[in-house]
Amino acid sequence: MHSFKELSEKFNKGFEAEHFPKSPASLYEPGNYFLSIGGKRIRPVMCLLGNELFSDIHSDAYQLANAVELFHNFTLVHDDMMDEASLRRGKTTVHVKYDNSTALLVGDVMVIRAYEYIQTIQAQYLPKILQLFNKTAKEVCEGQQLDMDFSKLEKVSMDEYIHMITLKTSVLLAASLEMGAILGGASVNNCQHLYEFGKKIGIAFQVQDDYLDAFGDAAIFGKEPGGDIKQNKKTFLLIHALEVANVAQKKELNELLNSNPPDKVEKVLAIFKSCGVDAWAEASKAKYMQEAFAHLESIAVVSDRKKPLIELANYLMNRNQ
Ligand code: IPE
Ligand code: IPE
Ligand code: MG
Ligand code: MG
Ligand code: MG
Repeated sequence: MHSFKELSEKFNKGFEAEHFPKSPASLYEPGNYFLSIGGKRIRPVMCLLGNELFSDIHSDAYQLANAVELFHNFTLVHDDMMDEASLRRGKTTVHVKYDNSTALLVGDVMVIRAYEYIQTIQAQYLPKILQLFNKTAKEVCEGQQLDMDFSKLEKVSMDEYIHMITLKTSVLLAASLEMGAILGGASVNNCQHLYEFGKKIGIAFQVQDDYLDAFGDAAIFGKEPGGDIKQNKKTFLLIHALEVANVAQKKELNELLNSNPPDKVEKVLAIFKSCGVDAWAEASKAKYMQEAFAHLESIAVVSDRKKPLIELANYLMNRNQ
């Protein structure tokens, strides 16, 4: 059994290998650039954790982990274009450093490399893994489209927000765990509980992401501060604020949403604060964590084996990166 940290180190060492050929450098150098700027790499580690919950680590779990991290990086390169973000992991985003066509193709080739890694997995596991991977990939696209659609809407409900972040973010965390579990020979029932555990932590993870986008320390978080505010993203902060704000605050928020003054971020942040978004984030993360842990408890393996997953959940909830 390995701790979350040990598995991170193991994965990172293997992931340093070349994923792309040399030529054309105009495509693969930007790809290598993005992979080399790091990231937390939680999803591949979740594959390994899901696998080790049920068995010794299967050698295919590393292939799967590579696939998941490449897929995730593809979503980020395209997401940064969609969100007009200039900073990621403290570095310039691909479409800004190079250009949009390069960023499109870098993302495309990453997802194709992901499928090449999946292709190497033992035939007996492949149908189940491909089915889950493909379902998840489509859901991420659906969630990303909803995220874009919502930014143009006047009003989005908290339920619609949770549905959107479940698709764009949490299903990939859930599937990473479950795909590892499939390689570990887990039963259908255990797979389902592990998936639900991942989904609940995934929701709390995106809540934290939205919080950090507004209030994080940019030097640590590595993204442009207030990026979501500039893009009129329907984050929980905005939805909650519009729910609880007084008439004057609501009017000001709506005016800010329909304009682009230089102090937009500052002004919106002040309203968010006075609407108690901190407390909402804490309560909501705690609720989803509790639901996640109930699913973890229902998984039929000895509790000692679950410790690394508890470590993971706690790390994700308290992160500032
Ligand atoms: C960023 O994911 C995208 C979201 C789903 C919020 P991560 O926070 O895992 O990004 P990296 O890979 O660590 O940079
Ligand atoms: C991203 O959501 C989800 C995916 C990339 C699929 P965000 O747009 O909030 O992610 P960040 O904050 O840019 O990492
Ligand atoms: Mg983004
Ligand atoms: Mg986005
Ligand atoms: Mg974000």
